[in-house]
Amino acid sequence: MNNFFTLFLQKIIDLDILHYQKDFIDFLESKKWVNEPRNLYEPIDYIIKLGGKRMRPILTLMAADIFSGGYEKAMPAALAVEVFHNFTLIHDDIMDDAPLRRGKETVHEKWDINTGILSGDAMLILAYQYFENYEPKVFQKLAQLFSKTALEVCDGQQLDVDFETRNDVTINEYINMIRLKTSVLVAAALKMGAIVAETSDENASLIYNFGLNLGLAFQLQDDYLDAFGDPKTFGKQIGGDIIENKKTFLYLKALEVANKVDSEKLKYFFNQKLQDNSLKITEVKRIFELNDIPLLIKDEIEIYTEKAFSTLSCMNISQESKDGLKKFGLWLMNRSV
Ligand code: IPE
Ligand code: IPE
Ligand code: MG
Ligand code: MG
Ligand code: MG
Repeated sequence: MNNFFTLFLQKIIDLDILHYQKDFIDFLESKKWVNEPRNLYEPIDYIIKLGGKRMRPILTLMAADIFSGGYEKAMPAALAVEVFHNFTLIHDDIMDDAPLRRGKETVHEKWDINTGILSGDAMLILAYQYFENYEPKVFQKLAQLFSKTALEVCDGQQLDVDFETRNDVTINEYINMIRLKTSVLVAAALKMGAIVAETSDENASLIYNFGLNLGLAFQLQDDYLDAFGDPKTFGKQIGGDIIENKKTFLYLKALEVANKVDSEKLKYFFNQKLQDNSLKITEVKRIFELNDIPLLIKDEIEIYTEKAFSTLSCMNISQESKDGLKKFGLWLMNRSV
């Protein structure tokens, strides 16, 4: 795809998605985030208002719209998902020792680690509270899905950290880890829209499966951007995963295809924690590029996106709705942030 076409595509797709995003942001901004004690709530206000793509709430609203012809009722559920996501980002940035988030200082850098921990904890509780807007039958389904998902995200985050110091991680283990830390929340965001719309269990589980595969494609793309994204737009530290010895697809695939000298070098670098990481990042990226890893990860992203799209064909929804979800998938695949 040439650049002009990508830009053109991005424009049409954005128009469709933008009204969900705008309505969601209006809802979010209508809430009062700062409360007493201020040292607890100001970091919450900060991270929530830092922006981001808002893709998970958009998905909740889209799913509700598809299954019930409206999305107003899904706003509290959408907000729950976004607040939970932002809580995971605060704690994730502590765990990954990340200095930048959405182009600004991370919460634990701007305040301190203790603040990040407690403000994050409060956000997890706030997220659950939004479900109190629903009547018991819907509330129970939402709370059940949410608890299961939140625990899976913890499982995924622990595996991600465990893998930093393991030298025998397989690509299958990696896929399972990103399914847990990232995909289940994308899938749950969609399923929450389906639950609020009170559609059939079959529809709810098909849209969940669509989200699982989309989430895998999304995390693979995040891992690609972490190394090869544009520092001007990405909003996070480039090479953060390399610094932290994250066993991403880039690294694991490179070990599989690189010659002995390069794979030994990679293993050497990924067993080091350094003060100055500039040489490590340059060298690792050079080995990735030399071995066509950017192309190989793009192929993998396409495989999971196509898998997601094939679930859509089994769904009993209008062609227009399927096109909307497909557009969303393409938007995610072509993103630079
Ligand atoms: C970042 O999520 C965390 C991952 C699961 C990769 P997003 O890329 O959705 O972050 P924001 O909300 O748009 O900033
Ligand atoms: C994040 O994975 C997953 C969660 C936040 C649960 P990453 O650590 O890759 O996310 P970024 O790149 O920091 O956003
Ligand atoms: Mg991180
Ligand atoms: Mg992480
Ligand atoms: Mg990342």
